[in-house]
Parts: sequence; C-alpha cells; structure tokens
Amino acid sequence: MEACLKLTGLLLGTLLSDWLTAVLSRDFTLADIVQLHLSATPHPGGFKCFTCEDAEDNYSCNRWAPDKYCPRDTEFCYTHHRMNGDGESVSVTKRCVSRDECVSAGCMQHEAHMVCTSCCEGNICNLPVPWNKTEAIFSTNSPLNRVIRVSPGKVASLSIIIIFFMRNNFD
Ligand SMILES: *[C@@H]1O[C@H](CO)[C@@H](O)[C@H](O)[C@H]1NC(C)=O
Ligand SMILES: *[C@@H]1O[C@H](CO)[C@@H](O)[C@H](O)[C@H]1NC(C)=O
Repeated sequence: MEACLKLTGLLLGTLLSDWLTAVLSRDFTLADIVQLHLSATPHPGGFKCFTCEDAEDNYSCNRWAPDKYCPRDTEFCYTHHRMNGDGESVSVTKRCVSRDECVSAGCMQHEAHMVCTSCCEGNICNLPVPWNKTEAIFSTNSPLNRVIRVSPGKVASLSIIIIFFMRNNFD
C-alpha cells in the first residue's frame, strides 16, 4: 500500500507538472499573440503573415509590415524562396495558406535554381526566408497543438488516478 501510494503520488506529480507546463506555455503564447495584436482580432485565432509576391529578396518582402488579417480558411504563414546557383535570392513570396500548401515544405532543385519553402504557425511568424533544408520546414506552434491534442488524455488519466487515490483513502 505504501509503495502503491508513492507510485500514485509520483505519477500524479509527473502528470500535473506536464499539464501545468502545457497550460503555462499555452498561456504564454496567447499572451504573446494578444500583445502583438494590440487590437481585437476579426475572428478567434486571427493572425497576420508577411505577404509579398515575387519580391527580389527577404528584405524587400518584409519592408511593409503586414496590415491585414489572414483569411479565416488559412492557418499558417508560408514562405517560398528561390535562389540562384550562387545561393543568392532571386525571388521571395510570402502569404497566408491552408495546411495543404504546407505539406511540401523543403528544398528542391529546379534547373539552375534552388527553391526552398517553409510554413510556420503564429502571428507574423514568416519573417525569415529558408536558405537550406534545415530551415525549410513546416513548424507548427507546438504549445497550442500539444494542449489540444494531449490534454484530454492527460486529464482523463489524472481523473482516474485521483479517483483511485481517493477510493483507497476513504474506503
Ligand atoms: C529577413 O528579414 C528580416 C527583417 O526584415 C530579418 O530580421 C531576418 O533576419 C531576415 N532573415 C533572413 C533569413 O534573411
Ligand atoms: C542552413 O543555413 C543556416 C543559416 O543560413 C546555417 O546556419 C546552417 O548551418 C545551414 N545548414 C545547412 C545544413 O547547410
């Protein structure tokens, strides 16, 4: 019984701290986003992306800060970067996209040009351009995702353990 209680306590502690970390990191992200927005979003989870079409480089693309919210049916900020054989920027395109357009993140050789695309989740997250395959990734905002995906299971196991713990104490 002693050992069992210890184990339960240990499990409870681990789950609780995991859960707290998830909640805290989510809160931090949301606070961050709210701070960046400084105004009410047009719909829940509203965000902006740097947006440009065929700019000559990252700098020219980012010269104008984003001023419009992404459409409701988009979820991510996308960056398309074309480089010449010397690895210099030739063209930069950034926009709001849906998940479908993010699955092809990576780098591809197109004749003399290298094209790298990346996607990120979060307000104005597409500030940089990807130069190689290490940077050409689809990065989702893990704290928000983790809470939505993992939390129900965690909460369920937490409740089961609490119930188990209480029954053992009060029976
Ligand atoms: C892209 O431009 C922004 C400024 O507009 C800069 O902060 C960032 O470092 C640049 N990133 C790359 C990879 O060129
Ligand atoms: C990718 O580019 C970044 C910055 O330009 C550099 O720090 C990193 O080492 C590069 N990675 C590879 C695998 O070339």
